[in-house]
Amino acid sequence: MYRHIEYYPGDPILSLVETFKNDPRPEKVNLSIGIYFDDEGKMPVLESVRRAETARAATPAPSPYLPMEGLDAYRSAVQHLLFGKDNPALAQGRIVTVQTLGGSGALKVGADFLHRWFPEVRAYVSDPTWDNHRGIFEGAGFEVGTYPYYDPAAGVKFDEMTAFFNTLPEHSVLILHPCCHNPTGADMSEQQWDEVLHIIKTRKLIPFMDIAYQGFGGDLDSDAYAVRKAVEMELPLFVSNSFSKNLSLYGERVGGLSVVCPNKEEADLVFGQLKFTVRRIYSSPPAHGAYIAADVMSSPELYALWQNEVYMMRDRIRAMRQKLYGVLTDRIPDRDFTYFIKQRGMFSYTGLSVEQVRRLRDEFAVYLLDSGRMCVAGLNASNIAYVARAFAEVLK
Ligand code: LMR
Repeated sequence: MYRHIEYYPGDPILSLVETFKNDPRPEKVNLSIGIYFDDEGKMPVLESVRRAETARAATPAPSPYLPMEGLDAYRSAVQHLLFGKDNPALAQGRIVTVQTLGGSGALKVGADFLHRWFPEVRAYVSDPTWDNHRGIFEGAGFEVGTYPYYDPAAGVKFDEMTAFFNTLPEHSVLILHPCCHNPTGADMSEQQWDEVLHIIKTRKLIPFMDIAYQGFGGDLDSDAYAVRKAVEMELPLFVSNSFSKNLSLYGERVGGLSVVCPNKEEADLVFGQLKFTVRRIYSSPPAHGAYIAADVMSSPELYALWQNEVYMMRDRIRAMRQKLYGVLTDRIPDRDFTYFIKQRGMFSYTGLSVEQVRRLRDEFAVYLLDSGRMCVAGLNASNIAYVARAFAEVLK
């Protein structure tokens, strides 16, 4: 009956998490999946979240279905965080947002919607990108190409990338990372974004920005620079966002898809079709995480607390980058490790070869992705010296 079914070798990120779990070596260090761990190696429960959870638990309420588009208070909170509360496009009613199952759900709803209404267009992901970008867009029926992005020396292959964008046909979909590029940690400057967005406008391309690490690069506002600039330039923008990392609510699947339209009439049409798309995949999103996120975002006190907690996570990641850079530079002075401190967000593209990554895993129980991507947020005061020693050994 099922012999014709193709074998699934597993996901390159999620399979490693399983292998790590089953590794009996006590010295093991997980730097593979993009999850923030604190200095004690634990996934934090943010104080802002704890307070919101406590308040909700004190008044248990029934849990009816949310509407297809999700919780209103949550959708407004997403809009304020991404676009800025006073963004005129919000007042004009030309931005629509639906609550989704994490950032992946937002990508899926957006990809299904785009493929339904722009069936001829292709989508392009950065080379390299988070593997599931390609997976989700291909799953929605797109042909997916790549655009040049990463340059180990310069960070971003800017000239090659923009030259490529200039060759694309109208309405091509570009999947972009507004901050904390996954997997490389190499971001564009604001001036480079301006240039890219100008090309997008001139060539009538469709930018689809996936923002999963807002607050982990610069700050909550500056990380949304590209998003807000695209709105100001009146581009037909798609934004998928996630609170997995910055609220540490991974399992609640709290995300959103926002579409910026030319006017309110078109926004209403888009909103209707987004709801229809949701209905045909999972009917309506889960409620709990959305209530918590909305409670945190809508209380000035909890919001301020949360903002500080995001910046504490960001600063700890930065400190780990500095520390690893320092130790490795001392150990191997003729090798340039400045990329550790230049790259932003949770990830660092280490430039380690597959063989070196496998040695790290086999000989030292230090887990990175085969691509050489390391999740810096898995480093802490207790494991960093060990990781640095392991790196130095495989780099020798
Ligand atoms: C990652 O890139 O490791 C995270 O976004 C988690 C995932 O689902 O892949």
